[in-house]
Amino acid sequence: MTTLSLALTQPWQDYALIDSGRARKYERYGSYTFIRPEPQALWQPRLAAWPANAEFIGGSDEDGGGKWHMLQSHKEAWPITRGPVKFWATCTAFRHLAFFPDQAPQWDWMREKIEQHKGPFELLNLFGYTGVASLIAAEAGAKVTHIDASKKAISAAVENQKLSGLVDKPIRWMVDDCMKFLAREVRRGKVYHGIILDPPKFGRGPKGEAWHLFEQLPDMLALCRQLMSKDSQFLILTAYAIRASAIALDELVKSVCHDLGGTIESGEMAIVEEGSNRLLPTAIFSRWSAT
Ligand SMILES: C[S@@+](CC[C@H](N)C(=O)[O-])C[C@H]1O[C@@H](n2cnc3c(N)ncnc32)[C@H](O)[C@@H]1O
Repeated sequence: MTTLSLALTQPWQDYALIDSGRARKYERYGSYTFIRPEPQALWQPRLAAWPANAEFIGGSDEDGGGKWHMLQSHKEAWPITRGPVKFWATCTAFRHLAFFPDQAPQWDWMREKIEQHKGPFELLNLFGYTGVASLIAAEAGAKVTHIDASKKAISAAVENQKLSGLVDKPIRWMVDDCMKFLAREVRRGKVYHGIILDPPKFGRGPKGEAWHLFEQLPDMLALCRQLMSKDSQFLILTAYAIRASAIALDELVKSVCHDLGGTIESGEMAIVEEGSNRLLPTAIFSRWSAT
């Protein structure tokens, strides 16, 4: 029977959740601090004041709208370090800072699996955005195929590769629709050692192809399974901002990977607040491992 686990992001030098409460969160990105809406922070803040460089004030629609209000001057983009990789942080119109710190435990888990693997490792990163996971995988020794619909995201990923000093690493940056790319790779008989996917609830491919998680995720996972073989090591599925339980992801990954043996771990992702044990939930995950 399934038991759920927690994948926790601890504060690190360049990122911390400093405080949260009253539907907002207060975070440090490098030497700057920001306030953003957080509907799940139902509790009271611990600190009396949140001096910040900027605050994102949400619009009436929870999923979109709203804008940044600058409070103290700061650079438009500044570098963040996570272990051996570096990437640019910037205030985006989508209320985040151009990367997702709650993915850190997945990066660490993936890195360990790649480093433990003997022989070449091919990783597929679907919905890869600004490429932090791709850079971590490439630095750990993987040959990476990174797919995203957004040219802007791919350009940012290439800048992050330069900033990290990893331009020599084998990363294929591709502007493509994830479903179309997967179908093409299946036809070519391609196999990957690791697959990671972090699909949004809704999205669009570069030619306007519609992505609806609840309708298409089972088909996407079935295609992913066809790109896996006895030599495959892992699959990591994460999902955020959807009305679904980690149990649903767990059962989906089980149904797709059951014949590969190995183990499946599923649960919640959360950020540990600096200086306290308070957890801020962010997303859900299910990951299959060959070992
Ligand atoms: C929020 S991001 C995922 C975050 C990323 N995994 C990370 O950890 O940084 C969602 C991404 O999915 C991309 N996307 C949405 N629909 C897509 C589609 N049909 N095909 C490819 N990429 C798509 C968007 O361009 C966006 O960059």
